[in-house]
Amino acid sequence: MYRSKNNGELRKENIGESVTLVGWVAKKRNFGNLVFIDLRDRYGITQLVFDSSFSEELANVRNEYVIQVKGDVVLRQAINKNIPTGDIEVVVKSLKVLSEAKLPPFIIADETDALEDTRLKYRYLDLRRPVLQNELMIRHQVCMETRKFLDEQGFIEVETPILCKSTPEGARDYLVPSRVNKGKFYALPQSPQLFKQLLMVGGMDRYFQIAKCFRDEDLRADRQPEFTQIDIEMSFVEEDDVMSLAESLVARIFKRVKNIDVKLPLRRMKYDDAINDYGSDKPDLRFDMKINDVSDVFENTSFSIFKDVLSNGGVINCLVAKGVASKYSRKDIDKLTEFVKTYKAKALAFIKIDDAVSGSIAKVLSEEEISSLKEKLNLEKEDLVLFVADQKKIVKVSLGALRCKLGKDLGLIKENDYEMLWVTDFPTFEYSEEEGRYVSCHHPFTCPKDGDEGKLLNDKGNCYSKAYDIVINGYEAGGGSIRIHDQKIQETVFKALELSKEDINNKFGFFVEALKYGTPPHGGLAFGLDRLVMLLTGTDNIRDVIAFPKNASAICPMSESPSSVSDRQLEDLGIIINKKG
Ligand code: AMO
Repeated sequence: MYRSKNNGELRKENIGESVTLVGWVAKKRNFGNLVFIDLRDRYGITQLVFDSSFSEELANVRNEYVIQVKGDVVLRQAINKNIPTGDIEVVVKSLKVLSEAKLPPFIIADETDALEDTRLKYRYLDLRRPVLQNELMIRHQVCMETRKFLDEQGFIEVETPILCKSTPEGARDYLVPSRVNKGKFYALPQSPQLFKQLLMVGGMDRYFQIAKCFRDEDLRADRQPEFTQIDIEMSFVEEDDVMSLAESLVARIFKRVKNIDVKLPLRRMKYDDAINDYGSDKPDLRFDMKINDVSDVFENTSFSIFKDVLSNGGVINCLVAKGVASKYSRKDIDKLTEFVKTYKAKALAFIKIDDAVSGSIAKVLSEEEISSLKEKLNLEKEDLVLFVADQKKIVKVSLGALRCKLGKDLGLIKENDYEMLWVTDFPTFEYSEEEGRYVSCHHPFTCPKDGDEGKLLNDKGNCYSKAYDIVINGYEAGGGSIRIHDQKIQETVFKALELSKEDINNKFGFFVEALKYGTPPHGGLAFGLDRLVMLLTGTDNIRDVIAFPKNASAICPMSESPSSVSDRQLEDLGIIINKKG
């Protein structure tokens, strides 16, 4: 028997017991004739005490050695209230070194100043830090609760292939060359979307999978090339059914993992309202501060910049930061201006409310404009009003981002606060400047809103769909839709996306064919598991909740993947590398 107890479980009640413990040496302190060691494992830390008879043996024991001790549990003289085992210590009778350790490249403790790439290179040491272990345990709890809940609801877990067919929509695919079929490639799945729909055609009725997904896209703090979804699909359902099931799952997870009661049903907001009021399809509702459209106030303005914007079809919107006008110097506002410029806004105008109104555009506004602003926005002394005038999209996006920045800068976000909502009624298509055509807002299998089917080819900009996203604290935690189950509508959507007949046949032929054999109405959604765990642990770095993540350059610094392969391997695959890149 290696151990009789772990390092997190000894309490006052165990005083007098003889125990065997194993673990890593977290800290060694020498006090003349006594030596103290903090022994660490996944369960906690136990203090060990050695008398001078161990001095020779201990001389060679350093941090991160794996040791086994036998000893007696005694009351500690100086109680440590910060750890659960702080009432006791173990007086060691015998010591055995199970494994020696090189000097680690960084200190293994929650607080570390090691660079992230160093931590990722030695991830197995990083994983010994209690903070990371806790994050992975929360991830495990989320998976377990998900499986239990969905099983209770009659869902079955089905695995779908990792070697798939490349499809043209969405992000870039990761490709895997085939040796047996030279010159051909598999694609790693961006999500199990088509397969889960085919499972519905196959009569599985209620499916789920904790599924690995792969997307070759630019990385951000909340994106990984390889991430995990809680993927769900249901037959014979409408939007309300899927949303109700999904929010019950979220409520169950928050209750069991964080003991937080989520009030159901979650509020819903239409996509157009989210963009108008918050400048984002994932609004952070932990604080107020809506975007106000004040174009009407300036209908007859003599201020030439505003006048030109309005006559070119643009809009004038503003944010009101309550009670902070004197906190913002000219320099601070210049910084905010630089910030909105990164979102393509040309400028940021401002006024400060006092007995007299001051600010960059105070002099060019008429008395009438100022008083109607005051009335419309309920302005009070010390309010700071920030304006962007431009084309609607730029105005909304830049003020939406500024709103989030102000929320953080002004401390408007309460810690441990969770605000969840559904964003619904997404447009079916969005225009891609890059591709010069409309592309799917969600994906091409999303069902249009009842009555919008006729707009698919002729009024793409005004066609809405049965798609929904679940948003938590400004993160898109999940998204899904009711699918098209009618092959004619599916073909029309492909046509609207300007996919050629050949493309449709090559890429989706098998899928369109399947829809012809009795497809049940169906829908579903997928949660970003990593994002849910980020929200539950409070980290804003997705790498903290993944055991072995890639860094911001999509590299694993530990195993050094991706890597070159041998000429022989390339030859087998019939691949020649163009060294000029
Ligand atoms: P979608 O593309 O919206 O939908 O993905 C669902 C959820 O997955 C998470 N997510 C990511 N998490 C980490 N890194 C990434 N690169 C990444 N990309 C997405 C987000 C997102 O809400 N098949 C559809 C779902 C459906 O319609 O049922 C899909 O994949 O939290």
